[in-house]
Amino acid sequence: MDLFEAIEKRFSYRKEMDQTEIPLEDLKKIVQAGLDAPSGVNAQTTGFIIIRNPNVVKAIREMPKANGSMATAAAYIACHVARKPVETYMDMSFDIEDCAAAVENMFLATTAMGYGTVWIDGWLRKDNRATKIAELTGLEDDRVIRIILPIGKMLQEQEKRVKKPFEERVSVV
Ligand SMILES: Cc1cc2nc3c(=O)[nH]c(=O)nc-3n(C[C@H](O)[C@H](O)[C@H](O)COP(=O)(O)O)c2cc1C
Repeated sequence: MDLFEAIEKRFSYRKEMDQTEIPLEDLKKIVQAGLDAPSGVNAQTTGFIIIRNPNVVKAIREMPKANGSMATAAAYIACHVARKPVETYMDMSFDIEDCAAAVENMFLATTAMGYGTVWIDGWLRKDNRATKIAELTGLEDDRVIRIILPIGKMLQEQEKRVKKPFEERVSVV
């Protein structure tokens, strides 16, 4: 799929997913897109967990208030950063931006490969869910999961969200 087609087709899929196991090679290809993303001062502060162990996947699917794609994903990809933000350049930390750049690359790769996903951030930060998933995956204590992507083939139709008109958000000077 052409890059601009993937950008245009990308959307947050929140409905039921096919739970058939996803080939590890596909998941690695998606994560490679995240690794290829830019990062502040090329510090590459992000780390990734491919979650496909059936017991761990089941435990995440069954977490309270997981629904739709979070409750039915075939696999998950978590993006983690240091608990204490890394001062990459002078007193500045780019951890969150690094994470966001990587996640968008992975989102586009996921779309191009015919899988659905949704950028899960707010849900993770509530009720210690990020910590629980970190425990399930054996993540080191000095790292925190900032974003998780449920991955799977989409089983249902879902309308794309409407974006505001170009003119409303863009100025040309
Ligand atoms: C920083 C950020 C945090 C987000 N957190 C969540 C979330 O916790 N749960 C969720 O369902 N969607 C989450 N989303 C997805 C947005 O709701 C979604 O991108 C937005 O509604 C636009 O829809 P689209 O992705 O289909 O274009 C998040 C997106 C971003 C960029």
